[in-house]
Amino acid sequence: MVDSYGRKVTGIRIALTPRCNLKCIYCHHEGELLPGGEIPGDMVVSIAKAAAELGMRSVKLTGGEPLLRKDLDLIIARIPQSLDISITTNGILLAERAEALARAGLDRVNVSLDSLQPNRYCQITGGSPGDLEKVLAGIDASREADLLPIKLNFVVLKRNESEVPEMIDFCRRRGLILQLIELLDIQGQGISGDIEGIERSLAARADSILIREMHRRKKYFLDGAEVEVVRPMDNTEFCAHCTRLRVTSDGKIKPCLLRSDNLVKIDSCDPERVKELLRVANSRREPYFGKVCRSVADATFIESKIL
Ligand code: 5AD
Repeated sequence: MVDSYGRKVTGIRIALTPRCNLKCIYCHHEGELLPGGEIPGDMVVSIAKAAAELGMRSVKLTGGEPLLRKDLDLIIARIPQSLDISITTNGILLAERAEALARAGLDRVNVSLDSLQPNRYCQITGGSPGDLEKVLAGIDASREADLLPIKLNFVVLKRNESEVPEMIDFCRRRGLILQLIELLDIQGQGISGDIEGIERSLAARADSILIREMHRRKKYFLDGAEVEVVRPMDNTEFCAHCTRLRVTSDGKIKPCLLRSDNLVKIDSCDPERVKELLRVANSRREPYFGKVCRSVADATFIESKIL
């Protein structure tokens, strides 16, 4: 499926619940808890089937915290195995579930980890003492269950940016990919770290640099470590290379990460109907930052203006 700007949609990200067992200071919530409950498992499976039929290659299950869904294993077991299936989790409940999830067909995990220091971890996430250790155990269990490659999401904040070198070492030793993520400062908190400066120093030290298709993410290789930099606010690249649709936990397709005024409500679990709605959402895809040339080969911005 290709949108009217020539951008191919290769993946879908589905929020399974707005509930979370943490309360991160920067969190952008995806969807509200409906009186009738969360997006039904049948609908998630239909979305994944429709996505596969439309030529998408990956499905990412998120939240809130997706491990709070007791039926997560059952949902994964019913998703077409031709898709690359991953979850984004805070990792607290991962140790006890990694093996069963892998057996159900989960391919890999992204784990949110913004600090390796217990006090700071709790300050950022609102977690309890002991949570950090559970996350670390969850990462180990995922390695044992072969949920690879494991990516760590690290949102760069003023209060954790000094930990970046330590995080790189941590990931290098365990064979994890580190994703340094630029804060989407929706609440105007002014707590973002200097991701630009960090990226400059990575570029200066890297053995090699790879540019990935999705959002033009840059991946830096440093002495055996892999570090990706994700910068949604970098308006020269982010939208031009967006390959994703999202679904909120209340069952609405979100054509753009940065907008909530053009959602498409999913009103059926019939894969044919869901396919049609995915096409509607695709027709509403437009770059948030500036305009993109109408050709894939030449998908560069001709105007760079925040709408
Ligand atoms: N800015 C950047 N990333 C965010 N995430 C959640 N809220 C924000 C935000 N405001 C991302 C983090 C986290 C994942 C679940 O969502 O990467 O690991």
